[in-house]
This record gives sequence, structure tokens and C-alpha cells, in this order.
Amino acid sequence: MEFTLDRSIKKPIYKQIAEHIEMGITSGELSPDHPLPSERELANKFNVNRSTVVTAYDELESIGLIVRKKGSGTYISTDIWGISHKRIPNWGRYVEDGSFLPNLPLVQKLRNETHKNKLIDLASGELAPDLLPSDQFSTILKEHTFHEHLGYAHPLGNEVLRETICKHVDTYKNMTVEPNSILITSGAQQAIHLIVQCLLKPGDTIAIENPSYSYSLPVFQSAGLRVLLLPVDQYGVNPDDIISLQKKHRIRMIFLNPDYQNPTGTKMSLDCRKRILELSSEYGIPIVEDDPYSLTSFEGKIGPTLKSMDDSGNVLYISSLSKVVASGLRIGWIIGPPKVIERLSDGKQQVDFGHSVFPQWVASQFLESPQFDKHIFKLRNQLKERRNELIAALETLPENKMNYFVPQGGIHLWCKLNVEIDDYKLLEESMKNGVAFVPGSIMGTKRSCIRFTYGRGEKLLIREGVSRFVRALQCFDR
Ligand SMILES: Cc1ncc(COP(=O)(O)O)c(C=O)c1O
Repeated sequence: MEFTLDRSIKKPIYKQIAEHIEMGITSGELSPDHPLPSERELANKFNVNRSTVVTAYDELESIGLIVRKKGSGTYISTDIWGISHKRIPNWGRYVEDGSFLPNLPLVQKLRNETHKNKLIDLASGELAPDLLPSDQFSTILKEHTFHEHLGYAHPLGNEVLRETICKHVDTYKNMTVEPNSILITSGAQQAIHLIVQCLLKPGDTIAIENPSYSYSLPVFQSAGLRVLLLPVDQYGVNPDDIISLQKKHRIRMIFLNPDYQNPTGTKMSLDCRKRILELSSEYGIPIVEDDPYSLTSFEGKIGPTLKSMDDSGNVLYISSLSKVVASGLRIGWIIGPPKVIERLSDGKQQVDFGHSVFPQWVASQFLESPQFDKHIFKLRNQLKERRNELIAALETLPENKMNYFVPQGGIHLWCKLNVEIDDYKLLEESMKNGVAFVPGSIMGTKRSCIRFTYGRGEKLLIREGVSRFVRALQCFDR
């Protein structure tokens, strides 16, 4: 069987060797009657290290294709050709080849280790346990009787919840909406996913903020979209950047998070909002406004959202209860033209047959109750206190170590290090010291920015978290 290693491609050499041998086995070219070449022979043949061949054989052994017999050599497993005809699928290959991309390894590591090693969590983009309205939820469960139909929910989501959301966005966001313009989703994340899957196709060009919310990036990449970047400063994106990108590319959609943007914490200026809506109309480009944070405004100044200013129906509006009530509820929604909402709801049916009944019921009870407004009022103050606590702790850092933008709402604080440090290495060192943050490079920026989420930090632990971070930072002084 002719075969040469291709050193120009990304696939590791050991994998290329393992796949070559697997192909020989499945095609019958390699006979089970004779031992396979020894590790040394193969290493010489391919001009690679012996350890590379060992890894290739390890992989083939782990999936049951070969067996190593001590003192005798390596053989094709008899199970493949024997009576049982049992073959273990190459799960490793399936896991790698799926069209839906995995998160970056660092994102996975951060998520696992923060939980496992009980680190002070200044990384997870959610509220700290003591900010969640758990008591109010217990009261709802005690005082209200659940009478809802337990079959599949309405394709757009529970009707009562959609009516409640109409009142909610009218009260808090000055938006007039009909229930048939709303689709209930599993958080804002599913809303983004549905929009990408149902309204865009591979090769389409979109524009997103840079930096931006890290969990949306693999969704765009998996869908084969071409992603253009709009740098974010303290006023949001620069509308002129949209003009220059549109001159060179045909932008199909723009994704924006105008209020207390994740990760920068910035709020888009009113002028910028107006100009972006003008451009959206001029070019006919839909805007996806992702708004999980506007209710957290410390001064209670919400928006105006792009959707509330949108006369032409150009904006698809996403919101969620994750950052203002509880991320575990998994309640989010999309508001848009009924035709689009219908299409997205059809997509959601294919994914999960509609949203779970119970969280929709509890969410509706809570949004309708006077407790909701009290909760938001308290939450804003508590978040502001935590932001202040974080800033006070960061001020103890030696001068000129970093700059940060002081957010007026939201849960994140974005810092720029004034020294050249690899943010991945800084995270590794910080985790060893017992604290986690999000390195900027996984959100699309260069390796000198980091995100602290004060909303997730328990108030009494924020200072300790920062001193652990400072200890990690000091390791790079040498
Ligand atoms: C800007 C933004 N959009 C969407 C999400 C997804 O949130 P969820 O799916 O929990 O509503 C997040 C979460 O961090 C976010 O920051």
C-alpha cells in the first residue's frame, strides 16, 4: 500500500500512521496471520521517533484493532476477523471529525478546573450563588399550584410566558411586541445558534465585535461563516468600520451586544446606535442585538435598545434571564418579525421539540410578581458593590501594571496588562494559586487582556481572588 506522511497538514504524524495501518487492516491488505512491523521498523520506515509509532499503536490498541503480545510482537486483533466479528468504533476519529466544533481546550479546562479545584471563580459568566433569587423561587413553589399542560409546549414557547415577556419588555425596555413575535429559547446561546443555523449558510460573511463573547465564536466557525471583526472601544463599535467592511465584503448579518458588552463592559453610545440602524437600513443588513445585561445598569438607565429604536424591523433582539435571574433556568428569547420567528421555531422543534414546561412556568410567575422588580433593584446595588470591591483590590497592584475600563453595569471587568505576558500562562499560574479568570485571547484579542467577572465572585472572596492573581503575576516579574 503506497503511503507517505504529509508533514504540511495539521493532522499529527502518529494519527496519519494509525490511520494508514487501520486502512490496511480494514481493506484486508494486512494479514492477521503475521505480526505487524515492530515499532523500531516502522519508525525507521517513516523516519519518525519511535515514541510516535508507540502512540499510533496505543491508539489502535485502545480501539481494539491490534493486540500487543509480550515477547512476540504486535498483531491484528482476532476479534475483528474471528467468530464475534466485534469491532470497536474509532470514537477518537468520530469525536474529532464532527462538523460541530468543540470549544477551545483552554475553555474546557477552565470550566472543569474551576469546578473541580474549587478555585475562586472570577471567570464564569454568571451570577454568584448568593445573588440568585432562590428564596423567591421557593416561595413561588410553595404558594402557587402548577396546572400547566405537561405535553409538548407551543412551538413558540409557553403562551403565558410570552405574554409576560411582552409586558416585561414594554415596562423595562420600551418595546411594544406581540406574543407571536417571540420565541422562547434555552438561553441567549440557543437563540444565537438558531439564528446561525436557520438564517445563514456556510460561506456567508458576518461582522461581530472584537473582542466578543467566547462561546459564540465556535458556533460561527462550525457553521462555516466568514467572520469579520469590528473593534470595540468605550463607545462600542465604530460605524465607519461597518462601511469599510461592507465596501469589500457582502455582510449578511451583524452581531452586537450594545449594553455592558461581554467582555469589555462598555455601553454603546446613542449616536453609534442611531448610525448603526441607519446603516442597517441603507445596506439591508439585519442586526442581531444580544442583550442579556441591560437590566443590570447600576443607575437604572436601560438602553435604549436598538430594537426599541428600530422602525423598519431590521433588528432581531435576543435576551435572557441568565444574567439577571439565574443561568440554570435556561430561559431566553428572540423577538423579531413573525415570519422569521416561525422559521426559528421550526428549527427549535427539530433540535428539542420546544422548551421545557417547568422553567417557563416558574419564570413567568417570577416575572409577573412584584418580587422581580425588588430583585433587580437589589441585584444592581450588589453588582455595583462587587465591581467596587474588585476595583479597590486591583488598585493595590503596583502602578502601571494594568488599565481597566470601569463598567456602569453588567458583570465583567476588562483589563489590559501593560506588560507583555502570555495570558494563557498567566491563567495557568493563577489557577495554581487558586483563582480563575478568562484570558482575552479566547475572546479574540491579543494575549495581553483578561476578563474578571465580579458578578460571579462572592463578595468576601474578591480581594482574596485578586491577591492570588497578583501572586501569579509576580512570577512573571523575574
Ligand atoms: C453576550 C452574551 N450572549 C449570550 C450569552 C449566553 O447566555 P445564556 O445562554 O445563558 O442566556 C452570554 C453568556 O455569557 C453572553 O455574555
